[in-house]
Formats: sequence, structure tokens, C-alpha cells
Amino acid sequence: MQGSRRRAGKRSTPNVLVLNGPNLNLLGSREPQIYGLATLADIESACRTHAKAIGLAIDFRQSNHEGELVTWVQEARERAAGILVNPAAFGHTSVALYDALVAVTLPVVEVHLSNIFRREQFRHHSYVSLIAKGVICGFGPQGYLLGLDAMRRLVLPDEDTRA
Ligand code: DQA
Repeated sequence: MQGSRRRAGKRSTPNVLVLNGPNLNLLGSREPQIYGLATLADIESACRTHAKAIGLAIDFRQSNHEGELVTWVQEARERAAGILVNPAAFGHTSVALYDALVAVTLPVVEVHLSNIFRREQFRHHSYVSLIAKGVICGFGPQGYLLGLDAMRRLVLPDEDTRA
């Protein structure tokens, strides 16, 4: 059948929760030699543009509070098709965030701006990596866009992904 990848009728745009952990609100001024000069607003804007181009919607959030992140992950069960998360320091410390990500049973992609494996030993372990489908680190803000591409394949596996 011609055009078999396209389904008849309308399909809704999958929504991806893009979650940012503590101190990422300071991007742009925080250790620019490590994290660069892009602000979190810059990253959000780039994510919105890219998500739209590849057929995803995003809900972009940041919190410095572990419990708030846990609540947002729990709520994603009803609202999102997947979670792209830069857990920041909570990736290295939070069993609560890990448990929440396990509980929601959504595909998780983990992103870090810096290459955490070239940094201090305590950054080499991430609880989130134990549940993530994959991890992207070291590519700065571009990592978020790579993460969205990966997420698209996870939430729309039957779509033509050559684009
Ligand atoms: C980070 C890396 C973490 O180790 C650190 O605690 C952060 C940011 C990154 O994006 O490179 O806050 O997640």
C-alpha cells in the first residue's frame, strides 16, 4: 500500500516533558567555562523550535527542589509520552527521582551539558542512567536537541525517521 507509513486520520502530537534539575536556572552565568554562555531560556527556545520541526510538543520545566521534580515526573504519567531529563546534581544523588522515573514507565532520555566522565569521580555515577534508554553528555545545549531526536524515535517508532 502506497504511503503506508502515514496513518489515516489525525494523530495527536506526542508531548515530551523536558525536565531540568537544580542550578540549571543559572546557566549563562554559572561556570561558563564548563556550561557555556547559553541561558536556560535559550535552550528552551532551541528545544521548542526543534521539537516542532520533528513533530513533538514539549513541556519545559526547571526546579531546584527534588520533591517538585518528583511530583512533575509522577504527573507526566498522564500528560507525557516521554521524559527528557537533565537531572543535574540530583542525577548523582537522588533515589527519589530514580524511583519516580521507574514508576511512570515512560521512556527516559538523560542529558548533561558537560561530559560528566571527564569531571570529578562523584559525577561518574547517575541513578537516572539506570532507567534511561540512553544518555547524551558533553555536547552542550545541542545535547537537548539530540535527546529530542532520540525521543522521537522512541515515541513515534513507526514514523519515517530519515529526516
Ligand atoms: C550537569 C552535570 C552535573 O554533574 C551537574 O551537577 C550539573 C549539570 C550538566 O548538565 O553537565 O548541575 O547535569
